[in-house]
This record gives sequence, structure tokens and C-alpha cells, in this order.
Amino acid sequence: MDVNSPAAPAKPRISVIGTGYLGTTHAVCMAELGYDVIGLDVDAAKLDLLRAGTVPFFEPGLPELLTKVQGGGRLRFTDSYAEIAQFADVHFVCVGTPQRKGELAADLQYVEAAFSSLAPHLDRKVLVVGKSTVPAGTAVRMEQLLASQAPCKDVELAWNPEFLREGFAVQDTLHPDRLVLGVRTEWAEQQLRAVFAPMIESGTPVVLTDFATAELVKVAANSFLATKISFINAMAEVCEATGADVTKLAEAIGHDARIGRRFLNAGLGFGGGCLPKDIRAFIARAQELGVDQAVSFLHEVDAINLRRRARVVDLGQELLDGSWTDRRVAVLGAAFKPDSDDIRDSPALDVAAAIGRRGANVLVYDPQALDNARQLYPDLQYAASAEDAVRDADLVMLLTEWREFRDMSPERIGTLVRRRNIVDGRNVLDPAQWRAAGWVYRALGRQ
Ligand code: UGA
Repeated sequence: MDVNSPAAPAKPRISVIGTGYLGTTHAVCMAELGYDVIGLDVDAAKLDLLRAGTVPFFEPGLPELLTKVQGGGRLRFTDSYAEIAQFADVHFVCVGTPQRKGELAADLQYVEAAFSSLAPHLDRKVLVVGKSTVPAGTAVRMEQLLASQAPCKDVELAWNPEFLREGFAVQDTLHPDRLVLGVRTEWAEQQLRAVFAPMIESGTPVVLTDFATAELVKVAANSFLATKISFINAMAEVCEATGADVTKLAEAIGHDARIGRRFLNAGLGFGGGCLPKDIRAFIARAQELGVDQAVSFLHEVDAINLRRRARVVDLGQELLDGSWTDRRVAVLGAAFKPDSDDIRDSPALDVAAAIGRRGANVLVYDPQALDNARQLYPDLQYAASAEDAVRDADLVMLLTEWREFRDMSPERIGTLVRRRNIVDGRNVLDPAQWRAAGWVYRALGRQ
């Protein structure tokens, strides 16, 4: 270790830049683990909410934890880079990297803005840690940016990808499967080990890597998950052609521990702010690196996934005897997955908008995502409850598998609709039970 470098404090003071799904959860959880944390955002409205103890999005368990750590005085929020630079020993960059408009590549403007806003204030040796999902090669560029713009020439960078799932963000952050520490020096490693001491002490595996590997681990993991989902959805297409049942197929192959049952739920496919844009950004980066052939299968993964949305529309159309015009359709689900209010690249809303364009009278209900859906899809109609959505419907489409939809009684819902037609876009209902109650039941990859 560099003898001139300060040793890692037992509990480094932490800043978290970007208070979205990732940053807010990280900030709150680090405070819960006993660290002093300051969160920074450039969005004043978001800061007002957080300061008032309100999480600006739906994430189970997070509001309670925010209230708790704010009460303990270990977490506060600011919009001042000067303030966080003065305060923190370790800065986590947690800003978003959305897909660039009209391109496959990731938009790095928020990452670049975070680094260039922070750097001029760094006048003592600290560690800056990238957590955002970025194309390989970004860390090296950010390291150069810090070297050229930070007054202190000893500032170091690390890359520490995050694997939390929305809906399980608190659990995943406090008890991660693994910690990936992309570092250049032992000093940086020691800082990160001090930051993650409670997790490491409780046995979380640590994988030490270089920058490029740390960046790639994240996109490789999400690409693998996306591939697994598209694999089972491809099997669903074959099942439909052969009369087989993809849910039984998944159960059977999933018993093989080498394959595993998780992420083999066939249906409407993946959406959200991560999987779709991460595989596309990976394709774009691989092209730049001259290794596009290595990930050309990801084009197919994306195509299979998008075909599922078209297939659900077709299934609905078949149940409506070929025409959507003026048919009442209840769409159950707007979030990209249950236990989230996130509608980024939501398969459910994509389908709802598509059938709306075909002339259907669509009524959408979601337990948490309606406010977000209204903003992005102002032309769709929204219901206040599942029962309101299905009233007088010619077709019910279950597109996000919230618990309350899985538990619906076919008899009860059957008394509200005009026609007992249902498309189970997530393969979560019992076909026998629904058919016994007089429903025409259709799903993806099963009869
Ligand atoms: C995903 C990864 O699972 C996280 O590990 C990662 O940290 C995160 O992206 C990220 O990059 O930030 P998330 O987007 O929260 O997490 O959601 P997932 O649980 O992965 O689900 C993604 C989509 O796949 C959802 O639309 C879900 O409905 C769909 N899915 C999932 C299926 O269609 N079938 C399955 O079997 C599983």
C-alpha cells in the first residue's frame, strides 16, 4: 500500500450521487448499516420529497427504512457538489444510463455530468466509485477525467456494479449475492472493504477485478438473464406449434441444477429500465470493439422478446373474433413487473397502446404504476380498481403478474365482464380453474 495514503477509516463517510431506484436504495441501506451518508441529486422536487421522508417511487420496505435512518440522523440530502466533496471519503456515482434516442448505445451524459461536477471539488484523496451500468471502457475515461479535473492528483476510482432487482431492492442491497470490486490499488480495495464491511463479515463473496471486468460483469449478468427469458419464450413458440406446455417444460428442465428454474417464466417477456437497454448497449459497444459477432445472438434475444408483445396482441384479437374496434378491453398491469411502479419499456403498456391504436376501448389498472402510466400514455384510459377495469369488458388481459391479479376469482370476475375471455400474458393463472368457470382462456406457450 502507498505509505502516504490515509488508511481506510473504520466507517468511511459516504456520498451517493443520483437518487433514483439505485441511488436512493444504496444511500438508505448504507445509512441503515451505520454509515453517515449524504445523497445528492440535481432534481429539486425529488430532494424535497426525500427530505420530507417520502421515497419518490414504489419499492417495498424502503419508505420505512428511509424514515428510520433519517430519524437516526445518518442520512441527509443536498444538491451541492461542494458539500458532498467536503463531507465524504467515498463517493458512489449511481446516475442512470438510459438508451440513447434512436440508437442502441447507452447515453452516458449523466455519468459524465456527475464526474465533471464532482471532480473540481476533490481537494483531498478520496475514492470515487462508479455503480452505474456502463459500456466497457467508461471507467478508464472517468479515471482520466478525475486526473485532469480534480485539484488533488491522488483521487482514485473504483467500479462496483450493482445487481439489485426492483421490488427486492432493500433485500438485494443489504444481502447481495456477491460484491464485485473493480480496483486498481490495494488502497481502493481497502476503502471498499471498509464500506462493505458488514456484508463481507456476514460471508458475502467478494470478486476483485480490474475495471473492464467489473463493467462487463454487469452487462454479462443482465445479458444472461435476458437470454434465459428469451430462451424459454422461444420454447413457448415451439410449444404452441406442437401442443406442448411451456410451464411444464420449464418446471422439468428447471429441476436440473445446471439450468435452474428461475428466470424461466415464459410470457410477455422482459421490460424495465435495465435488461432491454443493457443488451442493446452491449451490442453497440461490441460493434465498436470489433467483436459484434460474439454477441450477435443478443439481437435474437431482443427480437424474441419483442415478438411476445405482438403475439399477445394476436391472441387477444383471436378471442375478439378478429376485430378490436370498439371492444372493451381490461388491461391488468402497467408496471414492467409486479411490486414496482416502474413503467420504463413496460411490455404491458406497450401492448395496451398497440390495441388502443387498433381501435379498442382500453381500460388499464395497476396497483402502483397508474400515475407514471398516465404521464407517459395520456391517451389510454385508466381504472381505479381491477373490478372497475373489467366491468363490461369483452376481453381481460393479465399483463403484469401482481399478486391481486393472480388471486382473482374467475367466478367473481366473471359476473362483472360482458364476455368471459382472458389472455394470461404471464402464465400465472390456473387454466383448468378459469375454464371451469366458463372462461375462454389463452396464454403463451400452452393450450
Ligand atoms: C434486472 C436484474 O435482474 C438485476 O440483477 C439488475 O441489477 C437490474 O436489472 C439492473 O440492471 O439494475 P430488474 O430490471 O429490476 O432487474 O427486473 P427483473 O426481475 O430482472 O425482471 C426484468 C423483466 O424480466 C421483467 O419485465 C420481468 O417481468 C421479466 N421476466 C423475469 C420474465 O419475463 N420472465 C422471468 O422468468 C423473469
